[in-house]
Amino acid sequence: MHTLTVNGTSHHVEVDDDTPLLWVIRDAIGLTGTKFGCGLAQCGACTVHVNGTALRSCSYPIAALPEGAEVTTIEGLGQPDTLHPVQQAWLDEQVPQCGYCQSGQLMAAAALLQRTPDPSDEDIRGLTNLCRCATYPRIRKALRRAAQLQA
Ligand code: FES
Ligand code: FES
Repeated sequence: MHTLTVNGTSHHVEVDDDTPLLWVIRDAIGLTGTKFGCGLAQCGACTVHVNGTALRSCSYPIAALPEGAEVTTIEGLGQPDTLHPVQQAWLDEQVPQCGYCQSGQLMAAAALLQRTPDPSDEDIRGLTNLCRCATYPRIRKALRRAAQLQA
């Protein structure tokens, strides 16, 4: 039995210690906004926050989660009437194409802005989430807009 807090709600889940956090979130808890891409910590589709830090949940065993950790998924990043600045900026810039990578992109972008409110081009280039639709120019533009929105 593992206990974790996701988007402010406590959950008790019966999973093996080595179950990746991604599958706890998707299968045990039923939040499917976080996506599976590579399963190898390479693409970033599975990015969530643990205590505010972006983390690739496909390669993070549930047993590694610190006691009392707060997990945030795309479902908890903002609400329809109070969007997170990155969500508003993504809408304004019409970033997504197929959309598959975008929840991970948004979580990575939000974590970057949390630790670096005014990111440089180099900071933005440091995000390594992959997008098969190559929306990178719009992601970069939206990130700059989000930084302005949250200023
Ligand atoms: S699915 Fe986790 S990094 Fe690709
Ligand atoms: S929008 Fe299609 S993979 Fe990124």
